[in-house]
Amino acid sequence: MIKLTINNVPVEVPKESTVLEAARAAGVRIPTFCYLEKLHGIGACRVCLVEVEGLRDMVASCVMPAAEGMVVYTNTKRVRNARKTVVELLLSEHSGECQTCNRNDDCELQSLARELGIDEVRYQGQKTRQYIDTSTAGLVRDAGKCVMCRRCVTVCNEVQGVGALFPQGRGFSTAIGPAFASDLADVTCIQCGQCAAVCPVGAISEKDEVDLVWAALDDPEKTVVVQTAPAIRAALGECFDYPPGTLVTGKMTTALQRLGFDAVFDTDFSADLTIMEEGTELLTRLKKALVDKDASVALPMFTSCSPGWIAFAEHFYPDFLPNLSTCKSPQQMMGALIKTYYAQKIGKKPEDIVSVSIMPCTAKKYEARRPEMNDSGVQDVDIVLTTRELGRMIKQANIDFRSLPDSEMDAPLGLSTGAADIFANTGGVMEAALRTVYEIVTGRELPVDNLHVREVAGLDGIKEASLTIEGAVKDWSFLEGVTVKVAVAHSLGNARKLIEAVKAGEVQYHFVEVMTCPGGCIGGGGQPRMTNNAVREARIAAIYKEDEGREYRKSHENPQIDMLYKEYLGKPLGEKSHHLLHTKYTQRELV
Ligand code: SF4
Ligand code: SF4
Ligand code: SF4
Ligand code: FES
Repeated sequence: MIKLTINNVPVEVPKESTVLEAARAAGVRIPTFCYLEKLHGIGACRVCLVEVEGLRDMVASCVMPAAEGMVVYTNTKRVRNARKTVVELLLSEHSGECQTCNRNDDCELQSLARELGIDEVRYQGQKTRQYIDTSTAGLVRDAGKCVMCRRCVTVCNEVQGVGALFPQGRGFSTAIGPAFASDLADVTCIQCGQCAAVCPVGAISEKDEVDLVWAALDDPEKTVVVQTAPAIRAALGECFDYPPGTLVTGKMTTALQRLGFDAVFDTDFSADLTIMEEGTELLTRLKKALVDKDASVALPMFTSCSPGWIAFAEHFYPDFLPNLSTCKSPQQMMGALIKTYYAQKIGKKPEDIVSVSIMPCTAKKYEARRPEMNDSGVQDVDIVLTTRELGRMIKQANIDFRSLPDSEMDAPLGLSTGAADIFANTGGVMEAALRTVYEIVTGRELPVDNLHVREVAGLDGIKEASLTIEGAVKDWSFLEGVTVKVAVAHSLGNARKLIEAVKAGEVQYHFVEVMTCPGGCIGGGGQPRMTNNAVREARIAAIYKEDEGREYRKSHENPQIDMLYKEYLGKPLGEKSHHLLHTKYTQRELV
């Protein structure tokens, strides 16, 4: 530990801390802009300047190591003026009008200007070249608003291991974007939206489709049905100033009803269905491998609910496509059911239904438009809104969200279990699958504390667990004594490490969960900003709380799922399930 003072406040911090971290430990706030917690300290923007006694020049606190006896001042006149100049220069090049920008009121540049008391831009610089890239289904890049902070570059390269964005050119001509000034659709971008989640301004954002939903709701010929993903309920409240981790399931349902949706369904329902299908698929693969000794069976089996991960595997690991579960994601299972099972129930044609989903993820917009996602005969999910877009839509409707009463989602696709809730968290799909698979195989509940498989929970990048099957019932006796090994990775940089270890034969698993975004869906690219680990942990805790408060906590206990199989689907992996709920994958070029 070392001791220093920040604005005369003594503080003791670990040796390797920066001045910024020491200031935070002392309860002193220093504004930052290019900095990303634990990831990105390049000292590029100079917004975090401070004075250090004995040093002539001011230093960027996000990269300056704290030292024993250091005396730091963060709020002198010189510091304030320097920060103000830095931000004025940024504004002088900035091309954009706040009133019409989707980051208005949620923009770090705007907040900094306000915080520093900037009421005019004294410098008239040349504006950054404007170019708007709308080439992908999920994202819009507005180059004129880019402030070159490079957060997106760090996230795309280091966290996601994709490498679709680079700094290019020099000096004023520097631009951040795909190589050779290409559009995002022309390079290997998996549309995860993590760049949009960290961008401090309106330079990368989700493609806003709120107007499409308004048009559908205004069309008297259409029945408009909405589903909401498990992660929305733990984050939507942040759009209405609730602290991270506030569960707003009931208010969200009421808001959706008041927006005019004809039915409000829960993607949790199809998460339960995913467990039934995916669990059966896993057991079928294990049986083929262990009993039939079929060497062609691809193990480990990987989960397939995260569309960014699917695109990543299609681009970077095509050899592993047979290892991906053939299950569609819960969004797409629900989409197919809404336009078949539900359409039949209400006597509508699939083309008269508009199926909207609320997702934490920009890649879901891309997934809904994949050409194979039309097993109902038309596009199964028509419009995908992120959590942020839903927040804006509720505000556009002048709904006072905080005063809303709670409501329940609609039958028959609105009833779900705690196992489905935890799909939102890294490790959740694995835990949900184990709750069901173990009970099917042994007839007994998973032998862990409160149904939680703690080894696969939390924010470690790669987690492992193993479970030895004891007391397998007759049909599954081949699993008696087998130690089932599982692993969980979140963020694609970690997925890459894990797959490389599998390829090298360093690790062996039966089942692997991969989620595209850090923390899983609760940290998705379409969730309210800014998502750091404290926010992720708060949302994760809320989701486990939702799970623990449920009447049913295992997918196979969901009575509506039981009814769906009896009334319509037949059985897991049956002919109808295969047609509506399963899919295939395609090797794609690396660009
Ligand atoms: S990015 Fe921020 S500062 Fe720029 S136009 Fe949008 S709201 Fe205004
Ligand atoms: S969406 Fe994901 S893959 Fe595409 S540029 Fe952004 S961070 Fe990279
Ligand atoms: S696009 Fe956004 S995150 Fe990327 S460099 Fe520009 S301002 Fe920063
Ligand atoms: S936040 Fe420290 S230099 Fe940008």
